[in-house]
Amino acid sequence: MSSSASKNIESVLVENRVFPPDTRATQGARISGMAAYEALCKEAEQDFEGFWTRLAKDNLNWTKPFTKTLDESNAPFYQWFGDGELNASANCLDRHVGTPVENKTAIVFEADDGTVTKVTYKELLARVSQFANALKARGIKKGDRVIVYMPMTIEGVVAMQACARIGATHSVVFGGFSAKALQERIIDAGAVAVITANYQLRGGKELPLKAIVDDGIALGGCESIKTVLVYERTPTAWNRVEGRDITFTEALNGQSTECAPVPVNAEHPLFILYTSGSTGKPKGVQHSTGGYLLWAKLTMDWTFDIRPEDVFWCTADIGWITGHTYVAYGPLAAGATQVVFEGIPTFPHAGRFWQMIEKHKVSVFYTAPTAIRSLIKAADGDEKVHPKNWDLTSLRILGSVGEPINPEAWMWYHRNVGGERCPIVDTFWQTETGGHVITPLPGATPLVPGSCTLPLPGIMTAIVDETGKDLPNGAGGMLVIKRPWPSMIRTIWNDPERFKKSYFPEEMGGTIYLAGDGAVRSADRGYFRITGRIDDVLNVSGHRLGTMEIESALVAKTDLVAEAAVVGRPDDVTGEAVCAFVVLKRARPTGEEAKQIANELRNWVAKEIGPIAKPKDIRFGDNLPKTRSGKIMRRLLRSIAKGEAITQDTSTLENPAILEQLSQTN
Ligand code: PRX
Repeated sequence: MSSSASKNIESVLVENRVFPPDTRATQGARISGMAAYEALCKEAEQDFEGFWTRLAKDNLNWTKPFTKTLDESNAPFYQWFGDGELNASANCLDRHVGTPVENKTAIVFEADDGTVTKVTYKELLARVSQFANALKARGIKKGDRVIVYMPMTIEGVVAMQACARIGATHSVVFGGFSAKALQERIIDAGAVAVITANYQLRGGKELPLKAIVDDGIALGGCESIKTVLVYERTPTAWNRVEGRDITFTEALNGQSTECAPVPVNAEHPLFILYTSGSTGKPKGVQHSTGGYLLWAKLTMDWTFDIRPEDVFWCTADIGWITGHTYVAYGPLAAGATQVVFEGIPTFPHAGRFWQMIEKHKVSVFYTAPTAIRSLIKAADGDEKVHPKNWDLTSLRILGSVGEPINPEAWMWYHRNVGGERCPIVDTFWQTETGGHVITPLPGATPLVPGSCTLPLPGIMTAIVDETGKDLPNGAGGMLVIKRPWPSMIRTIWNDPERFKKSYFPEEMGGTIYLAGDGAVRSADRGYFRITGRIDDVLNVSGHRLGTMEIESALVAKTDLVAEAAVVGRPDDVTGEAVCAFVVLKRARPTGEEAKQIANELRNWVAKEIGPIAKPKDIRFGDNLPKTRSGKIMRRLLRSIAKGEAITQDTSTLENPAILEQLSQTN
């Protein structure tokens, strides 16, 4: 285990502040008090399938009811509700027709420049249906894969919902990814269309999207793409490829606003979302329709205790799993009013989030620790952007996601945003889990800063050693989920073997889900605390990056780079920062030259993967620390990156002198 992991464990052992749920949160909560939570857990333990059967029947509309809840015959390729049929879009939109939700605001959209647009559920249904008809008119049908490369807009949500409506499988690519990353995903998914915008607006800047799509396709191998649909977000001109490109306006013209949702099997892939793993190649995480949607809806009810009058705001981009489950699907399935925000938290000032909470009377606010930490820093530096300048009394529940929240940030969030009355749900989950798996419940769980507390009912989490043996409370180990759950990853698109190998290790019997995180349970309450990834995955500003992916990008600069090793180091704002150790094909640069080459390499990584993967530190060496068998000793690099003295055993190191050289900063 890395030393940062053991440091985290130490701090959980000393964290003894406990915040029992405020009576304002428990009153009328769906799960009110620990007894109610424990009763649900017990129900799941005593009759696992019966528990999920009840929930799936109560929470989703099925066009063909399922008769088998869980099929484990081909584990770990589990099937949930496998003979049932439904449509995800119908479960988010049509289900509200004829109910009071029909005329309720579904989305409050705030543009980068502050302009606000609202759509009701009825209007959203019409827009999604019309867009679905436009997709059909382009020959897109059930089972086709469609890339969505869109900014945070109502149109982005409409595009995802429209795919779901016709049974097309969407694969959203975050707007910050490069042409190369886009091309790799188009090829892997075998996509037939790309839905994009000419530009995206962020922080007052216009950033191209369509031009990147063109560049990605031009890299080759994307012949499957027949259509590029372009939302003209700004009046700025863009380059049209005749016969392939069509604007939203043209595509929607003359299309009916009614479109019957296509029923699909519960196991039909609703989407593929690429995420980083331990190798250089991102994994296409495939999610189902029935099980995924059930969990999206249910966690809105359980974790956020969503109520008819709530205004929900999840700040995540639709390019990430959080934006799928808690923007594009969950809030709609729950009939909630939600805020969708195009911009960034620091534009035009770092009080934008607080200002928007006041303006839209947000009651449930869900964001990432990295955003909180950067806003703390901004507020420390400038009183005018401190949350105290805005009326935040509409807030009822706060949420955190994506990385561990350090107790100091938790306390600040609790005091300055939550007014010491709002429970903070520190939700632990992953792209692969589809929705929350370990989280406090706002009306039940006593909170401990920095702990995601306890698993949701029906989620059988444990901490084990390498052989799968349970470890006692207080002992750090690997986080696993022992039984399948409805919203779990179904496979890795195009790579079922990698799916088995990555998540269901043979040494543990081949059927237990290995999360890839280290964790420890507190001695007193059995609360979980996540100590960080145990594989080669970094978490930078809540964005998941594979060290191997960045290494591959660096060595792809063949004219310059001979070898590269990437590790993470702790960072006060971004959680972790990317640190690259590089051996060049020429003499080791120093001084100005080193700075210049480091910049060149940063820009190269931005081009290969995206700006989020740019290494913060780049150090040059004549070599890398290696064992005699040639293995790079990453634990030493981690210490060097942190600026720590090397206390580890270096006796197996082939070239000890290299450590000194790499310790020098440029
Ligand atoms: O390391 C864990 C961290 O984020 C990883 C999953 O990243 P991704 O698939 O991009 O999904 C992020 C949004 C769900 C996990 O393996 N992580 C996520 N939430 C938390 C967390 N670490 C600690 N506490 C959390 N609440």
